[in-house]
Amino acid sequence: MPPKVLAFGNQKGGVGKTTITLAIAEALAESGQRLLVLDLDPQANITHTLSSSAPEPQFDMLDVLYANQAGAIDDAIIASSWSGIDLVPSAARLARLDVEAITAPETRLKVACWDSKAVAGYDFVVIDLPPSLGRLALNGLMYADTAHIVTEPEAFSITAVQEFFNTIDTVRASPMLNPDLINGGIIVNKRARLSEHDFQLEQLTEFFGPYLIEPVIRRRAAIADVHSTGVPVRRGTHKSRLEVQAGLDQLARTITAERKHP
Ligand SMILES: Nc1ncnc2c1ncn2[C@@H]1O[C@H](COP(=O)(O)OP(=O)(O)OP(=O)(O)O)[C@@H](O)[C@H]1O
Ligand SMILES: [Mg+2]
Repeated sequence: MPPKVLAFGNQKGGVGKTTITLAIAEALAESGQRLLVLDLDPQANITHTLSSSAPEPQFDMLDVLYANQAGAIDDAIIASSWSGIDLVPSAARLARLDVEAITAPETRLKVACWDSKAVAGYDFVVIDLPPSLGRLALNGLMYADTAHIVTEPEAFSITAVQEFFNTIDTVRASPMLNPDLINGGIIVNKRARLSEHDFQLEQLTEFFGPYLIEPVIRRRAAIADVHSTGVPVRRGTHKSRLEVQAGLDQLARTITAERKHP
């Protein structure tokens, strides 16, 4: 059976796409699943957090996409420093791809993973999308089985969700693109005890109710520290880590359960 491919996006920056992608990958790996993380963001945040102690990679995502060849992903897969998780790293030069003036459908990532024995050996492939809806994000959405949007309960989140959903619809609309792409719904992250967040969550529920995924993830120091320490929440030093991790594990179970949105 091929792996399930889950993408996490939002053109809005800083909402927690990378943090949630990491948390889902780690929760699944901890439960015994074989995981491959694909970094499609030139900022390479997930690469840095997952490979703080790894040597400089020989190949990265740009090599994979430029190859445009079946199985090209294989050479770029490295072991991460997190148990049970492999990685295709990104680097700043990946930004070159987003400014290329090519109008062909963005199938390069899909082609690169096509017929790959290495990819076939994973249970899940998770994709950290960049904060844009350009060529890089489209590569991810063309290859994904399911796309999730990660958002904060903040001003403009409704607009961002609508734009992301419109992009999913565009990708699904053409047999040349990815007609089977599933809209996996909305992960609400960084909720704080603020009346503004209560209000924005009500708004999100009113506009997109059936798409909201439980549990909502709160803003917690145990999560904020993951990027800087390079260790998963459950292996951190915070008193609250197990309680926080329980929410993240539940989120991973929810989004990997069979669900279909219209
Ligand atoms: N639930 C949370 N609680 C506390 N801090 C969080 C939480 N989620 C994310 N953060 C913090 O918010 C910041 C942005 O998170 P992250 O890098 O995951 O966002 P992103 O959407 O991937 O950003 P970008 O758009 O730049 O790719 C980071 O400093 C991260 O540690
Ligand atoms: Mg990110």
